[in-house]
Amino acid sequence: MNIFLIGYRGTGKSTISKLLSKKLQKGFLDTDDLIVSIREKSIPEIFEKEGEKRFRKCETAALKKAVRENPSAVIATGGGLVLKPQNQRILRRNGICIYLFASEDEIYSRIFGDENRPALTNKSPRQEIHDVLAARKPIYESLADFSLDTGNQEAEKSAELILDALSKRGDLK
Ligand code: S3P
Repeated sequence: MNIFLIGYRGTGKSTISKLLSKKLQKGFLDTDDLIVSIREKSIPEIFEKEGEKRFRKCETAALKKAVRENPSAVIATGGGLVLKPQNQRILRRNGICIYLFASEDEIYSRIFGDENRPALTNKSPRQEIHDVLAARKPIYESLADFSLDTGNQEAEKSAELILDALSKRGDLK
């Protein structure tokens, strides 16, 4: 069983996945890193030169590769990976999903000015977070086996809380 961390940008998916993978002694993967290594291009470069649609195709290919090669890893996913029904099916079939969330203010302060995160709309950064999050929230929630607010605590604490929840649910047997 894989453990997928899903959620919006800036909710701590990559950092917490790394910590979790160490605690669980499982492998760690990040679908964004996989895309960069497969394509040998940065994410902003792919968005800029090839467009978001092409990026989303690469994202599905990266997710397929990740689950084909890893039956039992902690996998951080890009914030928009959950959008495609095809990807949703892959997530459901290949592990459990932990939905990480934080307030819009928290997300804004974590991702503002990060040049590695291309704009998803032509709206202002705050409006983009508000609107994109509103559209995606039902999808994140529908996929989530459980959820965690990562806004008010260090990543280490979030990883510990996830470990506790996994253990209580019997997912670590
Ligand atoms: C995206 C989130 C990013 C990355 C790409 C698109 C999105 O991943 O996949 O910039 O659509 O929300 P992170 O959530 O790791 O920042």
